[in-house]
Amino acid sequence: MKSLGILSAGLVFAAALGTVASGDDHVDPAVMKAVKARQAQMQLYAFNLGQLGAMAKGEVDYDAGAASAAAGNLAKLTSLNGRAVWLPGSDDATLGEDVTAALPAIWEEGSEIGDKAKALSMAAAEMESAAGDGLDALRGAIGDVGKSCGGCHEDYRRSDD
Ligand code: HEC
Repeated sequence: MKSLGILSAGLVFAAALGTVASGDDHVDPAVMKAVKARQAQMQLYAFNLGQLGAMAKGEVDYDAGAASAAAGNLAKLTSLNGRAVWLPGSDDATLGEDVTAALPAIWEEGSEIGDKAKALSMAAAEMESAAGDGLDALRGAIGDVGKSCGGCHEDYRRSDD
């Protein structure tokens, strides 16, 4: 019985270690909040761009009001000041790949992350003026938006494929 007691205590300990080694428990809660906030911003990018993309592809009927709303949201989201969410030291090498896909290159000397963000905000502004002007105008503007998302991900987001 005694040895069983030791065994189960060992198992409990191993389970506790497992929690520390995976997931986000080992990350400072304030840093974790910042990471979650920037990931949520990206999700909002994707949601709004998805609405425009569905119209561009003809999966959803073009609706000028809905297109303008999504494009307006996207433009506003791209103008947020990212200072507090892109904390130095919140890259995947430091926090772990299970926590973030943000590459250390974002914070390295010569990083072009600011230019990449600017490219998206300019493309989103073009989209905001075009989206309500008909399906052709929307289609004409969406390529640059998608390219700006991809242009930043290529260099600064870890790709797991
Ligand atoms: C300036 C760089 C940059 C631009 C521009 C950018 N992204 Fe990202 N994106 C990132 C980085 C870095 C991550 C990883 C963030 C993390 O895991 O902390 C990311 C993560 C994501 C994620 C995953 C979020 C999650 O829940 O983990 C989605 C979805 C996404 N981006 C969509 C988009 C879309 C759509 C656009 C264009 C409208 C876009 N991104 C533009 C840098 C960018």
